[in-house]
Amino acid sequence: MGTCGIVLLTKPSPKPWPLRTSSRRTLPRIRCCSASSTSELSPDKLPTSIDLSVTGGAYDFSKATTSLTNELISSPKKVTLLRHGLSTWNSESRIQGSSDLSVLTEVGEEQAKRCKKALENIYFDQCFASPISRAKQTAEIIWQWRENPLVYLDSLKEISLYHLEGMKNVDAMQIYPKEYTIWREDPANFLMNGRYPVRDLWKAAKDCWKEMLLSPGESFLVVTHKSILRALTCTALGLGPERFRSIDINNGGICVFNFNVRGEAMLEALNMTAHMYSDHVYPG
Ligand SMILES: *[C@@H]1O[C@H](CO)[C@@H](O)[C@H](O)[C@H]1NC(C)=O
Repeated sequence: MGTCGIVLLTKPSPKPWPLRTSSRRTLPRIRCCSASSTSELSPDKLPTSIDLSVTGGAYDFSKATTSLTNELISSPKKVTLLRHGLSTWNSESRIQGSSDLSVLTEVGEEQAKRCKKALENIYFDQCFASPISRAKQTAEIIWQWRENPLVYLDSLKEISLYHLEGMKNVDAMQIYPKEYTIWREDPANFLMNGRYPVRDLWKAAKDCWKEMLLSPGESFLVVTHKSILRALTCTALGLGPERFRSIDINNGGICVFNFNVRGEAMLEALNMTAHMYSDHVYPG
């Protein structure tokens, strides 16, 4: 993990914005381990035609939020993220990762139907889903009768956990105590097969946001897995992979983000599960 502190930035950070001013200053900046690089858009140079109201009142978002697109997008967007229903390996407490041998249980199918009902008043331009069975099955149930085809994105696949996949958590803990402990306690430094799976996941999440946010439409549904949902949520909030376990999302849980035209996120809801315990239907 990096250390936090005040550092003097002698070189300006790479400029993600086409809108950026060219002022190059050498200013003491607070730079934190997980914060992404800040930009230098000055408030008086902001284009007035852009509706920034969605991110709630500040005007210099170059320091308050992080853009996931680094370019203007066609319109503000709402993205509703949903975790798949209970799977066979969830119920056996097995590590799933990117493997595709786990499928929805009967309970999981019921949960997916509840999600479908809960979301029936909401119009979505598009549904993006992971192609891995447990998420795909959930998406197929929720998206039934909707007009547009489901869009499967490889960047929505679950984290690769290599030889831990398929193992019960208790067994993995005993057989690979070192790797398992790092996976649980220091996810950013979890190293397996020469890769850092959580760091790889952060890259996938960033690519995924960009692909989704640059797609036409204003309202999207995303059906996927817990770890990639954590990565999508954290990257939208500007948190690094060391914060992997600061967020949790239950089966059938829903998170909602709003984006302004600069691709900056504001979190509206996290792990909403009222519909899993009641017949709650979210307003359109
Ligand atoms: C997510 O929601 C479930 C169900 O309401 C709850 O049990 C769980 O604790 C929640 N997760 C977090 C991190 O709050």
